[in-house]
Amino acid sequence: MAPRFLLVALALAGTAIAAPATTLSLYERAGNATAVQFVGTNIAGFDFGCSILGACNLSQTTPPLSNLGGVDGAGQMQHFAKDDRMNMFRLPVGWQYLVNNKVGGTLDSGNTQKYDQLVQACLKTGAYCVIDVSSPYARWNGQIIGQGGPPNEQFVSLWTQLATKYASNAKMVFGVMNEPHDVPDIDKWADTVQAVVTAIRGAGAKTQMILIPGNDWTSAAAFPTKSGPSLLKVKNPDGSTDGLIFDVHKYLDSDNSGTHTDCVTDNISSAFQPLASWLRENKRQAINSETGGGNTASCQKYLCQQIQFLNQNADVFLGYTGWSAGAFSPQTYELSEVPTKNGNSWQDTALVKACIVAKKS
Ligand SMILES: *[C@@H]1O[C@H](CO)[C@@H](O)[C@H](O)[C@H]1NC(C)=O
Ligand SMILES: *[C@@H]1O[C@H](CO)[C@@H](O)[C@H](O)[C@H]1NC(C)=O
Ligand SMILES: *[C@@H]1O[C@H](CO)[C@@H](O)[C@H](O)[C@H]1NC(C)=O
Repeated sequence: MAPRFLLVALALAGTAIAAPATTLSLYERAGNATAVQFVGTNIAGFDFGCSILGACNLSQTTPPLSNLGGVDGAGQMQHFAKDDRMNMFRLPVGWQYLVNNKVGGTLDSGNTQKYDQLVQACLKTGAYCVIDVSSPYARWNGQIIGQGGPPNEQFVSLWTQLATKYASNAKMVFGVMNEPHDVPDIDKWADTVQAVVTAIRGAGAKTQMILIPGNDWTSAAAFPTKSGPSLLKVKNPDGSTDGLIFDVHKYLDSDNSGTHTDCVTDNISSAFQPLASWLRENKRQAINSETGGGNTASCQKYLCQQIQFLNQNADVFLGYTGWSAGAFSPQTYELSEVPTKNGNSWQDTALVKACIVAKKS
């Protein structure tokens, strides 16, 4: 559970993974890999101003780009890629921002062009870049997509336009929706996700990864029993599940909210171990696209343990992206993974240095 609203409030206070034919494809990797394939952080800011009920105040959007008056998110990614061997960045953005508050409308050219600058800065590092439709939490202004709120067609329209725009780039990853929660009918949600997957593939993005979110704030612990059984039914138009990767989150603080600087658990036995077994049984994979903690000894201990477990189970866990770098304040944000620049070099937070950087293989 990550009440992004709180995080935002605090912040404001302050493939074509298609492998060469001779090697195993990404989705068929043997179970003896010793490290996950994708490591990185979130670069937040384009999602700021949105509440957990899916309402966004667009005047609070904070592009993490220095030429747009913000922090140097492009520099952060270059540093992470070069110095920490990171190769995946998740780029949260509000649905409302992309369409300038017109649900079902066309992409707003000005706003989309700004977001695209972050996407291009990410691609320039050579990393995989996740479009994370972040803020509405399966909602638009409090109403759930396909279940009383906007009809599926309006959400599909967003994804058709995004997939069309980025279809030709193999390193784009499509994160369907950040942290759905309190969605009443999980089968209907699976139908919504299916419609989006069909639209993305139909727009020509035939092989890129699509991250599929369950209910319960995409909780890694809840997934196998709550959302997983319904979401297993989501397929590519050809009937396969290639590139359809489950999206899970898990925080390590006392109430699993990702809002405290101290960690109390690695949640391996209660969340990642059962999830790993479930993924293996069903021949599927997941990415942990939000995890993190404070820059404290307890979080270093538990987050490093969690990440070690992901690495040891790299046949089913493809990677992780930490929460969060980007436009948060490195001084005041509890879960800051924002690097700071001194002269020409960048300094990582203690937690990033200890746990998030890619394992040397
Ligand atoms: C797994 O181990 C076998 C035998 O050592 C090796 O041939 C294979 O390449 C390994 N696979 C991966 C994905 O590391
Ligand atoms: C939106 O955010 C701006 C800037 O923080 C604030 O001045 C304004 O009152 C907010 N609007 C609403 C409707 O909350
Ligand atoms: C995570 O671990 C803590 C401490 O062991 C436990 O209280 C909590 O229920 C676990 N959370 C989940 C979702 O498994």
